[in-house]
Amino acid sequence: MRRIAHLSDVHILDARAGTRRARYRFATQLVSLGHRGVNPLARVRRLARALSVAKEHGADHFVISGDLTEVGEDAEFEQFAEVLHDAKLPEDSVTLVPGNHDAYTNGDGWARAMRGPLARFAAASAAAAGKIVDRGPVALLPIDSTRFQTIAWSGGVFTKATAAAVDRRMSDPAFRDKAMLLVLHHPPFHPVKAMKWIDGLRGGANVLDLLARHPRLQLLHGHLHRIFNHILATSSAVGAAVGLRPKSEAPDAATRLFGAPATCDGDGPNVRLYDVKDGALHALEPPFQAA
Ligand SMILES: [Fe+2]
Repeated sequence: MRRIAHLSDVHILDARAGTRRARYRFATQLVSLGHRGVNPLARVRRLARALSVAKEHGADHFVISGDLTEVGEDAEFEQFAEVLHDAKLPEDSVTLVPGNHDAYTNGDGWARAMRGPLARFAAASAAAAGKIVDRGPVALLPIDSTRFQTIAWSGGVFTKATAAAVDRRMSDPAFRDKAMLLVLHHPPFHPVKAMKWIDGLRGGANVLDLLARHPRLQLLHGHLHRIFNHILATSSAVGAAVGLRPKSEAPDAATRLFGAPATCDGDGPNVRLYDVKDGALHALEPPFQAA
């Protein structure tokens, strides 16, 4: 069995920017939207604590589903990498994907971080669509859903080409008996309809189509800073619309989408845990407190 920890939306700041960079302070306060304190050390502490709680509870693979940094500056990625190094996690046990915040400064910020400070964790993290990370009873498909855009936008994209690359993996007999996990920052739904255009996932229908055609496929996401559990509602009519429903409406149905809370928010460790059992992920009940 394998136990997976799911963290998200860490929003690490550059602690060394200090008082000399008014522009950085202004930008980070703006994107923090006034709803999370702009304290670099508090965010470092929350990430370190969430990782340590996950380790204490037996996690042996760690997924962080995007918005690792506040604006995607190199110095923020370096700070983020330091916390991961200090946590002493085996390099093949960490799967990272970028979020919209990680793409606010450079179009190639993620690629640079993967080659630079996060190189140690690149093997199991997002690269080209279709990359698969085999971890015994579970295989992860980490996806980069970001695009380079201004801080006025926060949406993502999941193209038909990305869906085709995932599709090929799902049809590969080598992964027939494994739990299959799509990992991406943006979920294919938005709880606030009016926000869908600026904050949602363009091409979300491609994700729903994959989930409908591959009953073994499950999805881990972040972005919404709250715990979500969704099931897939399918119609018996071929080609009929597929919709998502909260798991609470059908407690016996298999959860297909798991959303994580933001590691940077609140006082709890803000981490989810799942056990891989019989080819699927099963969520353990939070909260998980430090011992
Ligand atoms: Fe986000």
